[in-house]
Amino acid sequence: SFPEKVYIREVGPRDGLQNESKFIQTDDKIQWIDHLSNTGLNYIEVTSFVNPTWIPALSDAEYVAKHIKKNPDITYAALIPNIKGLSRALESSIDEVAVFISASESHNKNNINKTISETEIVLSEVVKESISNNKTVRGYISTVFGCPFEGHIEIDQVIRLADSLFEMGIDELSLGDTIGIANPSQVKQVLEKVLKRYSPESIAMHFHNTRGTALANVLASLEMGISKFDSSLGGLGGCPYAPGASGNLATDDLNYMLTNMGIVTNINPVELNSAALFIQDKLQKPLDSYSVKYYESQ
Ligand code: HMG
Ligand code: MG
Repeated sequence: SFPEKVYIREVGPRDGLQNESKFIQTDDKIQWIDHLSNTGLNYIEVTSFVNPTWIPALSDAEYVAKHIKKNPDITYAALIPNIKGLSRALESSIDEVAVFISASESHNKNNINKTISETEIVLSEVVKESISNNKTVRGYISTVFGCPFEGHIEIDQVIRLADSLFEMGIDELSLGDTIGIANPSQVKQVLEKVLKRYSPESIAMHFHNTRGTALANVLASLEMGISKFDSSLGGLGGCPYAPGASGNLATDDLNYMLTNMGIVTNINPVELNSAALFIQDKLQKPLDSYSVKYYESQ
C-alpha cells in the first residue's frame, strides 16, 4: 500500500531558476514564491546562498528571502554551501538550511570546489551552527544514482555519506538523481539499503526527469513507503555543474498523479497551474511539464 499523504518539497525557485540563463527579476521571483505559498504547498526552497559568481541567477538571495510573504504553515528553506552562506541566510530569516554534498568525488569538486572529505568538515560546522540557531537542517546527497563524470556510484558510498550527515544532526535526507539517470529497480535497491538504517519519514527523493523516468521512480519509492518528494513547478531545473542535467520532476505532474491515486497532497491544481503560467511568462519560454503542455493545448 502507498502512503496516505505525500509532502511535496517545491524546489523550483532554487533548483529551477539556478539553471536558467535568463535572470528573473527579483520582484518577479518574490511574486512567484508568494503565488506558490497560496497553492497549498507546505515547503518551498526559495533560493541559495552560494557564491553569486557561480550561480548568478540567484545573486539576489538575501532580498528574495527577506521580502517574500511568509505563511507560518510553510517551511521556507535555502541551499547553503558553507559558513559564509549560512551567515547570509541567518540575516534573511530562513526556516530551514539545506546542505549538499555529492556521492561522486568529481561532481563534488566541480560543484563546490572541494573534495568530499573537505566538504564533510565544512558541512559539520554549518549543521552545528544551524542547529544552535534553531534551524532545522536538510541534507542532500547528489549523484546517488550515477555521476556525469564517473558513471556508476556504489550504494555503500551513499550509505557512508548518509551516516555522516545524520551524525552531523540533519533532520531529513534528500537523495538526488542529479542527472535523471535512475530507474525504478535501482531506486528500490538503494532504498532497501537506506531504509535498513533510517525511517522512511526521514528520507526524501529528488528526481530529475532527463530520461523521462522520474514518475516511475516516484512510484517505486511510494511502494517502499517514501512520502516526501522534491519537485519543481513546470519541470524547471538542473545543476549547472553536471553536464546534461535537465529539469526536475514537475510538481504539477507529480501532484496530478498522486491526487488521482487518492493520495493527499493538499495542493490546489488550479493555483499550481496559474503559478506555472506566471513563471512561464517571465521566462519567455515554454515550460516542460505535461500538465502545462496539456493546458496550453486546450
Ligand atoms: P570557492 O570559490 O572555492 O570559495 O567556492 P572560496 O571559499 O575559495 O571563496 C572564494 C570567494 O567566494 C570569496 O570571495 C568568498 O567570500 C566567496 P573573495 O574573497 O574572492 O571576494 N564566497 C561566497 N560568497 C557568497 N556566498 C557564499 C560564498 N562562499 C564563498 N556562500 C563554493 C566554493 C561552495 C562557494 C562555490 O563552489 C559555490 O558557490 N558552489 C555552488 C554551486 C551550486 O550552487 N550548484 C548547484 C546546486 S547543487 C544541485 O543543484 C544538486 C541538488 O539539486 C541535488 C541533486 O539534484 O542531486 C541539490
Ligand atoms: Mg537537483
